[in-house]
Amino acid sequence: MKRSFDNIYEPYISQAKQPCRTERRGFQIYPVNKFKSTFPYFREPKEVGSFSHDYERNFQHDRHQLMFYVPPEDIDDVSFDLRDGYETFIKKDDSVKDKLDDMLKWILLNKNTFLIQNQTKQQQGHDCLSSLNTDFVCWRGLLTKLLCTPYESRDGWQIAVTRHNDTFYLCEFETEERVQQKQRETAKQQEMSYWGFKFEQYLTAKKPEELPSTDRPVNNKSAFCSVVRGRLHRHSLVFGGEVDCCQTCNGETKYVELKTSRDMYHVNQKRNFKRFKLIKWWAQSFLIGVPKIVCGFRDDDGIVHRLEEFKTQDIPRYCQDIDNCWNPSICFNFCDQFLQHIKDTVTTNDPKVSYVFTWHPRHEITYKIYGPDSEYAFLPAWYYNPQPASTDTVTSSSA
Ligand code: A3P
Ligand code: MG
Repeated sequence: MKRSFDNIYEPYISQAKQPCRTERRGFQIYPVNKFKSTFPYFREPKEVGSFSHDYERNFQHDRHQLMFYVPPEDIDDVSFDLRDGYETFIKKDDSVKDKLDDMLKWILLNKNTFLIQNQTKQQQGHDCLSSLNTDFVCWRGLLTKLLCTPYESRDGWQIAVTRHNDTFYLCEFETEERVQQKQRETAKQQEMSYWGFKFEQYLTAKKPEELPSTDRPVNNKSAFCSVVRGRLHRHSLVFGGEVDCCQTCNGETKYVELKTSRDMYHVNQKRNFKRFKLIKWWAQSFLIGVPKIVCGFRDDDGIVHRLEEFKTQDIPRYCQDIDNCWNPSICFNFCDQFLQHIKDTVTTNDPKVSYVFTWHPRHEITYKIYGPDSEYAFLPAWYYNPQPASTDTVTSSSA
């Protein structure tokens, strides 16, 4: 007799923080050279939609927060004070976890994007989309972490996976180590995390013909997100990621990523920049098809003196000259095989069940299964069980 869901999980529902089942079988990462083979098929990501977060962090189904890159006259000679205005910083509340909610709101508002060719809405069942025809849904940041995992030696991760109608939804949860790290953050460290947002303000404007206005408070609640569809070998993916700004060249509009980094004077600093920072910048931008990264090099007092542009696709070659350089094929083959491991492992199709994969550097990846009401359940009922009226709760200013 087929065991019902309740039979399996009933003993644990009252103590939902405990996993229902612990699995010992792990996914082996090391030695990472086992992922060294040809670069797997990765289709260029295609934008299928976008949305904004307004100044109060509310979801808006529009592009109003897309900013324009306004380069300075001379990128080798600028003077941006990143400390300016810290006292008026309007800061997003980092204790509120976004989970996947805004991606899910976007999906409910864009069901047609998920119909396969020749399939009508009627065949899909009116408003209730039975299948997304997509293997994975997540944020771009999670995929960036996966790509960098073979070379990461400091920060682990925790990823919850829920399989619903045969789509695997992935959601990152902070590790205990990260929670403690944040509690130990000094005032100086907190101030420094403002610097990147102030930098964005120095280089962007609401309209391409406008100059950046650097007198108003910096607000990091607002953002523009691009949603893309991509394919990595056997896996179809839909993911969203924040985009800093865009630039129009020869009639074509391209996205631009903005970064800051400390001035480098020594060979060691340049090597570490290539080894630890550029891998992350490359993975983040490559995944979502952002072709250019503009970096502001700053001193310890937060003054940016010069900018440098990096073409995303050239970064792996630019880093080749360091010893034991990271290899993009290893990053992508690892990601491909780990996504396959998720498909093979997450067998229960239930929006309330989470398989939580945990990784600590130098260890294998393990997982535990959690039943309903656990702290890792992240698909909201309004998503998997939408009532005809409930989709109205998804804010849509210009659907
Ligand atoms: P920098 O990247 O210039 O340091 P992103 O570049 O990914 O769009 O992020 C924008 C800014 O958010 C960063 O600018 C930094 O100021 C802040 N930020 C991002 N991740 C952070 C982290 N893990 N800790 C602290 N600040 C972070
Ligand atoms: Mg940025």
